[in-house]
Amino acid sequence: MSTSNFPEMSSHFEQEQLRSSPDKGRLGGVVAPEKTTPSNSPLSGGELSAANKHPAAWNESRHTLGMGEMDNTHREFITQVAALIAASNAEFPALFQALINHTREHFIAEGKLMRESKYRGLPEHEGEHHRVLGELQQLNRSLKRGRLPLVRAYVKEGLPEWFDTHLSMMDGALVMFLKRR
Ligand SMILES: [Fe+2]
Ligand SMILES: [Fe+2]
Repeated sequence: MSTSNFPEMSSHFEQEQLRSSPDKGRLGGVVAPEKTTPSNSPLSGGELSAANKHPAAWNESRHTLGMGEMDNTHREFITQVAALIAASNAEFPALFQALINHTREHFIAEGKLMRESKYRGLPEHEGEHHRVLGELQQLNRSLKRGRLPLVRAYVKEGLPEWFDTHLSMMDGALVMFLKRR
């Protein structure tokens, strides 16, 4: 389980965590940027915030990989993340559970494609899936303990950025391999 190859999801949060709450576990730092003014962002100083750089919106040219079912799954993922960002506090927990369920199916489907095609990148790609699903499940436990701001920050700033990079690198490489066969 390596985060070093794909630091895009964790780096922001882990750095915040190290600065602000080293004793709170791996995801504890997500609460740090609760004040939402851009100046509190690690990307401040005139740069766009992570949320602006990676909006939770489907971008046809950037996100379409050319495999119908996978594209539909990815579009649905973005739809669900956007719905979570817009959700009321009361709506949030059920939608977060739905996102976990959808993501589990998403990753199972890609795992099946990788196994059927004997894709050599499977261990790394699937390791990343397991890491992210584990984070989502850990956050769900945090949510049940009342840490809604932590989970909201992760959904808004961590997930869209992770999605963009995972899609363009790992899913993109898989699709390229499948199309070449
Ligand atoms: Fe995917
Ligand atoms: Fe993937």
